[in-house]
Order: sequence, then C-alpha cells, then structure tokens
Amino acid sequence: MSQKVSSRISGFYKRCLEDRLREIQALGLLDEDALAHLASGGGLPTAVADRMCENVIATHALPLGLALNFRVNQRDVLVPMAVEEPSVIAAASNAARMVRLSGGFSGDADPPIMTAQVQLDDVPDAEDAAVRLEAARASLLAAGDAAIPRMVARGGGCRDLEVRVLSAELGVLVVHLYVEVGDAMGANLVDTVAEAVAPLVQRIAGGTLGLRILSNLTVRRLVRVTATVGDDALGGADVASGVARASRFAELDPYRAATHNKGFMNGLDAAAVALGQDFRAIEAGAHAYASMSGQYRPLSTWERVPGGLVGRAELPLAVGTVGGLTEVHAGVRAALQLVGAKSAGELAVVLASVGLASNLAALRALASEGIQRGHMRLHERKRALAAAPGAGGGEAAAPASGDGKRFAGERAEAHRAVQQAEGGT
Ligand code: MEV
Repeated sequence: MSQKVSSRISGFYKRCLEDRLREIQALGLLDEDALAHLASGGGLPTAVADRMCENVIATHALPLGLALNFRVNQRDVLVPMAVEEPSVIAAASNAARMVRLSGGFSGDADPPIMTAQVQLDDVPDAEDAAVRLEAARASLLAAGDAAIPRMVARGGGCRDLEVRVLSAELGVLVVHLYVEVGDAMGANLVDTVAEAVAPLVQRIAGGTLGLRILSNLTVRRLVRVTATVGDDALGGADVASGVARASRFAELDPYRAATHNKGFMNGLDAAAVALGQDFRAIEAGAHAYASMSGQYRPLSTWERVPGGLVGRAELPLAVGTVGGLTEVHAGVRAALQLVGAKSAGELAVVLASVGLASNLAALRALASEGIQRGHMRLHERKRALAAAPGAGGGEAAAPASGDGKRFAGERAEAHRAVQQAEGGT
C-alpha cells in the first residue's frame, strides 16, 4: 500500500457500491484484473470452482465488505471481510477508529515456523529412544530438508526437533520437526516433511509408525498485538471500567471466555475468509492455544490504565500470502492487494488486530447499553430482504435505481444503529 493511503474514508457506508469501488480504485491498490473482478460483483466462475473441489454443483456467495480505520504498525490498512453476520464490519471499523486516536494497533509475529508431528506407538524403552532421536537431530533435519528443496532454496527448511514421550508405559512418542515455510501457510510442506522423515524416525526409535501430519497448534508461530484506547473515545471512564471487568470475567470463566473468543474471531475469521486463509486451521489453533494453561481462557485481555485501556492478544496464526487460494481465486488476490501485507507475518499482525478490534467493539457494547438494540435493527433489515420478492438471489434481490435509494436509506439507518450500539465511525 502506498504511503498516502488512508483507511479512514468518511461516509463510505452511505455510498452506492459503484462509488465505493471508485473510491478504492483511486487509492491505486488494485490491479486491473482485481478491479474488473470486484466491478463484476466478485464471486467465482463455476469452471474454477469445479477444479477447486469435488462434486461441485454451483458456488456459494457471501457479502464482501471493507473494514475501515485500521492503522497497524504505523500503516493504514483496508481490511476486506467476507461475512454474513450484520454489524461485524461496522463494529470492527468503529473500534479501529477509537484505537486509531491513540496511534493504532502494534504487534509482531514469530518467524513462520510450522510443526510436523510423527507418531510412534509400542516403542521399547521410549525414554531411551527419545535420547537416540535427539542425537540424530542433524540427520533428521537433513532428511526433512531433502523433501522440500524448493523451500530450502527460498530460505526456509527444518529448523529444530523436539521429542515428546506421551506415555512411557505404552511406548507412545511423538517427534516434532519445526519447519520454516516462508510466506506460505505451509500445511502441504509440513505434511511432506512429516512423511519424509517418518521411516528414519522409526528406524532410530523402533515401534509402530502412526500419524505423520502437521499440528494446527502452531506454538512457534504466534502473533501478538496490543492497542490502547482512551476513556473519551470509549464513551467515558465507566465504559472503560466495564470493558476491563468484562475481560476479567472471561479470564475467570471458560463459559464467558468461549463467547469472548467468538467475538474476537468474528472479525478475524471474516477477514481470513476474504483473504483465502484456512479458517478451520486458524480456529483449531486459536482455541487449543486458549486452553493450554489447563483452563480455557480469553485470547485477548483489556486492562485499565490511567485514562483508558490497554488491550493485548496472543494466538497462533498460520496464514500465507502465497500458495493455496491466492493462486486460483481472483477475489482472494484482490483482497490481498487491498491489505497490502508484504509477508505472512505482516498479514498475521493485521488479522490479530482485527480480532482485537472486534473484541473491543463487543465488550464496549456489552458494557454499556448491550448489543441487542443495534443488532435487532440490522436483523430487521435482513428479514425485510428475505421477505422481499425475489429474495434468495437473482435480479430482483439486487435493487436497481429506485429501490437502490430505499436500500441506501436502510443501510444508513442500520449503520447508525450499530454506531449507537458500538461507538460510531
Ligand atoms: C456475537 O457475534 C459476539 C458477541 O457475543 C461477543 C461477546 O459476547 O463478547 C457479542
């Protein structure tokens, strides 16, 4: 993204789709193919869909919107989101505006290290086998590297090895290989490594070979973000205290932590889907990480500081800017151009910031008037759309000329409802 791009685009929600696209075009972020793709309504040609997975009969669409106001590590970022739930985009944008007043989000990501697991059962003297495997570290890493020569040539490859005896009694042992995967999400690379090293692992340790697969609990690929927000931006010291108390509630209670984390993932998942990321992997990793202390805990916390709040989040985030859908899906390519992340790590920091923004918006609303007033207005709009002639798709569901005004009015009204509930853009 060029230096002069601002993610603060006032009144974006009031405009028609064409105007919004013109505004985005003027920022110079998108190439011609991406612009043409968005201008044609987005989506996926069935011929491409048919090559992506099996038994295809059609494609399935979601609204694609832009979250605004994000400033992450001193860079303004537009965040594309694919999501069906009303208010997720407006809420994240509102929270990003509040955080922006204190300088925006900042964060960092670990190097892109994924974990390959090789399972062995019935290992005779598992503790001794573990020592032998540790001693063979260099040859195991070399065997892994030999299976992914192109990644090694690009600067990645196997970096470390760990042996975990899960049950000495049953002889269950697992070998972790930690593999640096560049800007890819890396699942295929890591699975290749796991399968390649497995025979050598078994020769060294004995026992019966089990699974050879990545772990989605990517503890060596964490991302951390932090944000400060002032009392004034939040709507007063009482609201700020309410957010901090809501955060403490989630720290004390797994039942609340689950909902807290759902709110955190609302924005993160929506952006991950738009950006073609494996959101199932992200979800699996996030919730496993949330449980690592033995109690399911919030992925983010908000602490009261003089004049405001400091929010912090930490989670594993295996995402990629190359490979996977980025190669076949025009919408994903457009979304990546909009975000403008130069590396997988930079993308991870943006996504975690979006999570923290969604979480702040939800807690702020819950700690003040509750979320229902704004949300019910938006749900009313969806219900009206469902009841309209032609609802369910096709020409009639997409309002033209005259209807467009009515829908623009409803949209503005709905947005105002979220503003009231969640802080205003
Ligand atoms: C709804 O999608 C998300 C919330 O329940 C999150 C939360 O309670 O923190 C509002």
